[in-house]
Amino acid sequence: MNFKIAVIPGDGIGPEVTAEAVKVLDAVADRFGHKFDYSYLAAGGDAIDKYGECLPKETVKEAKESDAVLLGAVGGPKWDDLPGEERPEKALLGLRKALGLFANLRPAIMFDELKDACPLKEEKVKGGLDLMVVRELTGGIYFGERGTRQTQDMGLSAYDVELYSEKEVQRVAETAFSMAMKRNKKVTSVDKANVLESSRLWRKTVAEVAKKYPEVKLENLYVDNTAMQLVYDPKQFDVILTSNIFGDILSDEASMITGSIGMLPSASLAEGNFGMYEPVHGSAPDIAGTGRANPTAAILSASMMLKYTFGLSEEAAAVEDAVKSALKDGYRTPDIMTDGCKAVTTGQLGDIIADKLRNR
Ligand code: NAD
Ligand code: IPM
Ligand code: MN
Repeated sequence: MNFKIAVIPGDGIGPEVTAEAVKVLDAVADRFGHKFDYSYLAAGGDAIDKYGECLPKETVKEAKESDAVLLGAVGGPKWDDLPGEERPEKALLGLRKALGLFANLRPAIMFDELKDACPLKEEKVKGGLDLMVVRELTGGIYFGERGTRQTQDMGLSAYDVELYSEKEVQRVAETAFSMAMKRNKKVTSVDKANVLESSRLWRKTVAEVAKKYPEVKLENLYVDNTAMQLVYDPKQFDVILTSNIFGDILSDEASMITGSIGMLPSASLAEGNFGMYEPVHGSAPDIAGTGRANPTAAILSASMMLKYTFGLSEEAAAVEDAVKSALKDGYRTPDIMTDGCKAVTTGQLGDIIADKLRNR
């Protein structure tokens, strides 16, 4: 089959890890007889440097015309002093909004081979870990009204509004419940309903959606408790359904349990099959250009693209198997390095995974 993929490498380690994901997609194309056409688009700091704006219209247009988008990461110290509206991160938010990507799936899976890289005691994650964070991605405080105002006696004040509508909660809850039906039939909805009005609407709306899924067990947890439970007993979770900002925070926490944030992929989905696929991690300016970035999150994001947008489940599973096999052979980037393993660079790990796909 033929697919058109928009690639947005972005900043820092973004281009380094997306190059490895493309390498792996090419290996998939060779092995299974598909054709992937890539169009490379600018966003973030890359676009600011090239075109003077973080999200050029052309990027949005081309992304919309593609079958799926693969994104690296945006942002970095070079652009940190720009006003909020002009920052590289704004491009990511703009893309998510323009493409209607309201549901962000962030699977935290601990590979058996990586249990030594997990900071929790072995008994906490015995038998592996497999949870899915479903994060609302186009609403909440990220997109609410914001601004600053001068006060009489407290100086300058700033505000960001957390606003959710029933429809926004319903559609992402539907995603979480249908996901749970294919998994272990449990949804933990995470909010701060003991304080926030928006969370109370969230909780009520989720309960309504839950009625359509009698087989799925719904549990409500406060976000502070969830942060604690994630490190205390992560295996209690199946699907975690939460708001934009809580999902951002909890998915970074979940990633560390799996060994490294360099392992965690994500799928940002619109209504229908369209999606943007992006690692959970950022542009990691501290290691950019050193060959130390773990490309696995980007490679597994490409695998999610195969599965969720292209419907190529067998190909997606082959990528996951190749990743597992490379880990089994002991190949490790520095973030997941443990005693007795073999150190490799970003590019070497990509090569090893791509070779495994080609030579099976
Ligand atoms: P980060 O995720 O970039 O880095 C956090 C830590 O994890 C760093 O120590 C980094 O070296 C490490 N790390 C991240 N990815 C790794 C990988 N693949 N392999 C090995 N180690 C990895 O988060 P940050 O430092 O808070 O943010 C840096 C920049 O990235 C900021 O400008 C931020 O706004 C941006 N950011 C972008 C995205 C995105 O584009 N999706 C996500 C998060 C942060
Ligand atoms: C992520 C990132 C982004 C977010 C930033 C860079 C806008 O942290 O994808 O997790 O907060 O959504
Ligand atoms: Mn984040």
